[in-house]
Amino acid sequence: MTNDKCTNKINTIIKAYSEEGAIETAAKILQDGGLVAFPTETVYGLGGNALNPEASAKIYAAKGRPSDNPLIVHIADTSAVYELAEDVSEKAVYLMEAFWPGPLTIIFNKKEVVPYETTGGLSTVAIRMPSHDAALKMIRESGLYIAAPSANLSGRPSPTLAEHVIEDLNGRIDMILDGGPVGIGIESTIVDMSTETPTILRPGYITKNMLENIIGHVEIDKALTCPDPSIRPKAPGMKYTHYAPKGSLAIVEDLNTPLASQAVIDKINNLVREKTAEGFKVAVLTTKDNSEKYKCDNILLLGEKAEGTTVASHLYAKLRECDALGIDFIYSESFNRDELGGAIMNRLLKAAGHCVITV
Ligand code: TXA
Ligand code: MG
Repeated sequence: MTNDKCTNKINTIIKAYSEEGAIETAAKILQDGGLVAFPTETVYGLGGNALNPEASAKIYAAKGRPSDNPLIVHIADTSAVYELAEDVSEKAVYLMEAFWPGPLTIIFNKKEVVPYETTGGLSTVAIRMPSHDAALKMIRESGLYIAAPSANLSGRPSPTLAEHVIEDLNGRIDMILDGGPVGIGIESTIVDMSTETPTILRPGYITKNMLENIIGHVEIDKALTCPDPSIRPKAPGMKYTHYAPKGSLAIVEDLNTPLASQAVIDKINNLVREKTAEGFKVAVLTTKDNSEKYKCDNILLLGEKAEGTTVASHLYAKLRECDALGIDFIYSESFNRDELGGAIMNRLLKAAGHCVITV
């Protein structure tokens, strides 16, 4: 590690993961208790040795993350589950077989070896096997289990490009492995298998239907669907206003249809006109399908509505772009809440602090 004592700033090494020796350097840093940001198929993660409480403490410090918000432990082989977790049920094994490596995180009761510093004081542990080549190679090369939250400063959108990680964490961590743009763009689905009924704690690319096809009935944590703030989400991270852009974001929704109707388009155009006249910088979040229908200086495209995957993969980058452009007010269309749309709306609603304007 190259810690500059005068400024307390770390000289962050930035390398393409395919560069010769990059994975080995990353693995060595992790073995020495340092932090490495790396690409996964969902978002970039900020990794440290999951069994080293000091490494976990460094992760919280680098992100400015509340220490009651547990980290996900990333593994490269299923056998690791039995080192880290107790009471691995048959259903959990079916899920591991069906979706790993891939964007599913599973909650188990933890074994003693997993420090409370990594699990935010909980007696359960979140485990995931990512499907990105760089992540798997780095984990294997290090011979460790890697605790990794998303590699953003706490409260900012998760990083989907190495540039986003550089923006947030350059000088705060030891290394960034650049793997270009990630594939999925929103964080993994989290399913709690430590309780009687399997429960989704965070929606993601692996949907309720996909899980139910493998193990039968799955519940969704009530806090995710019910706006009552007195119901605490079971995943501590879901209670924080995450992903918030600096400008004020509102979702404009037609109660009769999840699609952007003419009423939605008219409402957004009116709001844009009003705020622009007041001297504010305004942006519209829409998809290619509707981009021509808005009159606004900043029209940010989230891919194509019919293809949820393109919307998911652009969402966080566009929220960051709003910050870079210094946007004061952002108006977004809403999305179908089915399947992947449910995960997209979950992130968008959080980014908007649940501000929805209905027409
Ligand atoms: O796709 C992902 O999952 C990415 C990549 C890097 O793997 N990681 C990620 O980590 O999104 P993070 O730290 O940003 O989100 C982890 C979420 C938080 O909401 C946290 O509260 C929850 O997982 N979590 C972790 N351990 C938990 C546990 N034992 N019980 C309940 N929730 C847990
Ligand atoms: Mg995160």
